[in-house]
Amino acid sequence: MYTPEQTRQLQELSKSLLKKLSQKSLNIKDLASLRNVLVFHEYRYYILNDPLLSDTEYDTLYKSLEKLESENPGSITPDSPTRRVAKELTKSFPTVNHLVPMLSLENSYNEEDLVDWDRKARELTGLDAIEYCVEPKFDGASISLIYENDLFVRGATRGDGVQGDEVTTNIKQIRSVPLSAAFSRFGIEQVEIRGEVLMNKENFSKYNRQLEEQHIAPLANPRNAASGSLRIKDPAEVSRRQLEVFLYHISYYSSSDKLNVKKGEMAGPEQAHDAKLKKAPHTHSESLEMLWDLGFRSPKKEKKVFLSIQPVIEYCQTFEAGRDKLPYEIDGMVIKVNDFALQDKMGMTTHHPRWAIAFKFKARQATSKLLKVEFQVGRTGSITPVAKIEAVPIGGVTVTSVSLFNEDVVKQKGLLIGDSVLVERAGDVIPYIVKPLAELRTGKEKKIVFPKNCPACGDELVKVPEEAVLRCININCPAQVVERIIHFVSKDAMDIRSFGAANVQKFYELGFLKDVPGVYLLPFDRIAELEGYGEKSIHNLQTAIEESKKQPLHRVIYALGIRYVGETTAKTLAKAVSYLMDFKNFSLEELQSLEDVGPKVAGSIIQFFNNRDNIKMLEKLEGLGLNFRNTRSERKGTGNLASQSFLFTGSLNEMKRSEAEALVEEQGGIILGGVSSKLNYLVVGEEAGSKLEKAKKIPSIRILTEKEFLKFIGSSKGK
Ligand code: IVH
Repeated sequence: MYTPEQTRQLQELSKSLLKKLSQKSLNIKDLASLRNVLVFHEYRYYILNDPLLSDTEYDTLYKSLEKLESENPGSITPDSPTRRVAKELTKSFPTVNHLVPMLSLENSYNEEDLVDWDRKARELTGLDAIEYCVEPKFDGASISLIYENDLFVRGATRGDGVQGDEVTTNIKQIRSVPLSAAFSRFGIEQVEIRGEVLMNKENFSKYNRQLEEQHIAPLANPRNAASGSLRIKDPAEVSRRQLEVFLYHISYYSSSDKLNVKKGEMAGPEQAHDAKLKKAPHTHSESLEMLWDLGFRSPKKEKKVFLSIQPVIEYCQTFEAGRDKLPYEIDGMVIKVNDFALQDKMGMTTHHPRWAIAFKFKARQATSKLLKVEFQVGRTGSITPVAKIEAVPIGGVTVTSVSLFNEDVVKQKGLLIGDSVLVERAGDVIPYIVKPLAELRTGKEKKIVFPKNCPACGDELVKVPEEAVLRCININCPAQVVERIIHFVSKDAMDIRSFGAANVQKFYELGFLKDVPGVYLLPFDRIAELEGYGEKSIHNLQTAIEESKKQPLHRVIYALGIRYVGETTAKTLAKAVSYLMDFKNFSLEELQSLEDVGPKVAGSIIQFFNNRDNIKMLEKLEGLGLNFRNTRSERKGTGNLASQSFLFTGSLNEMKRSEAEALVEEQGGIILGGVSSKLNYLVVGEEAGSKLEKAKKIPSIRILTEKEFLKFIGSSKGK
């Protein structure tokens, strides 16, 4: 897509635009350059996965494009990166016709099926050998995209294959879908492309963890996550889900009149007299390369061409063996006749093309029996029903335990003890029960009865309105304490390697560990007396515990296990303060002004910091040497505002709040999330509210009007 020379030039251009921006000399003449560099950096980030700018640099350029465009609305182009953003909710997803029906694929499940298919294909074509192109079968939601005159104009779901739902705005939220692509270079005016929308495994796990934190039943697999996401009416939410796409098939194209190419045909070599006009692909493999060169994410690197079926089979098997290592789910491979002319000759049935076949990987579903249901107590006291099933191997792992999440899920599925059940385990995803096989019931199955008392401490359980979970509200319930400590030491939290759930459980039972601060006060002399704890393992554990004291603030916040505060929220919170204990002074309103912090999350944070026991625990942790400070503010900045903290309140006249904040950060200053003694400057716009009142009570805070701030920042710049 970009030559090394173009890459170098665009990178230089980006740097010079950033410089101009800091000198405030960016103007309308830079608009096209800004757009080009942003499209280029989106490509580096979302297609190549190899960014050349930091997130902040990208955001700064993006914001300046937004600003220039809002000042010059006439200059906005439909493929500007800012056009992805939709301000309104989607009202409906109208039904639309696909230009060409979206057919399905014939399936094969083993070597023999493929050998058979190859034999039939050779018989049909009268050839001794056929060239095949093999690529992954992506396990997501299929879509079709239409580009007209190089612009993305429509995106639709598969629907029934003939008609689908129009989801253009949602597809624009997928940053690996280019808003424009130079099909005209191939003499193509209108084109329909097929592909698959995916949520990669990492994002899927993160998304599910967020759902679990809110006690919403997690999604079964990334496929459901992708197809569900395409039908969300809030495009901003679609954007947050960080979907990806692979495009693998051109189903239709028509050529521009001036090239005099017949509809349904690409400009061939004879039309390619124009030096700029590219030679159109004649094979599937070339078409994947063309898509890649036009800026699409196609399986260009994953595809491989073979001259006979045996190496095709081996390639499929290699992929199957490595499927768990891929960042996204695939459920098989697709084998396609490579030559387009031969494809045309072979044609299609009403169901599938004769020139392609799917090689399906081994199913990750199995049947088992529901033996009993146990109830586990989580770190926030939530009671989770867990199905114990007859051991069954699925995808190389023996499954005996499957979470049922909550009472509603059990009811929805209509599960009974003794039921035969269909179980699925997709890759790294936790196993789940798809459904009971009701037709196999004998009549001896029993109802699942939820407990009235906590299985760990015996206290009466509470059902919170609007929540599907039962809860034990005894904060000292041993099961909760253990779970809180397990969460605290876990990989995504304080990451104390070699600690692990088993050690937490053991040390707790032996009375060596009573609470979270106890992690830093372990009696190692007594642990050394235990079997299996040699000098080396104790040393490793001690080092890991000591090292964890240096963990950044956001990890500490996440590790505390505050309800509804996941990793993302913890990062937002860490950015909002320079010192953890500042949260004691935050109001509900201030917390809600932070990105993605709603009333529920804010309420939970307030509750946590208003609890005496929690404050005592925090004081202990700080005394034990944990890092409670935001390293950003400790870092000596190089700008003139280094280590000076700012907060904006009310509406500004001269610029957007985000721009003012960027100005501060450019000069090494810090933006705080709330008023506290750590704040140096409060900049007050129109209709300032409670923050101003609060700041007036802290004498060390200097209050600036917007004018004063601009003067201040201007003079500080000149220094
Ligand atoms: S080609 C006319 N290639 O699998 C041929 N399909 O089970 C169109 N799929 O409906 C399909 N990866 O949604 C093709 N590399 C790939 C694919 C792929 C996933 C999906 C597609 C299709 C379904 C059939």
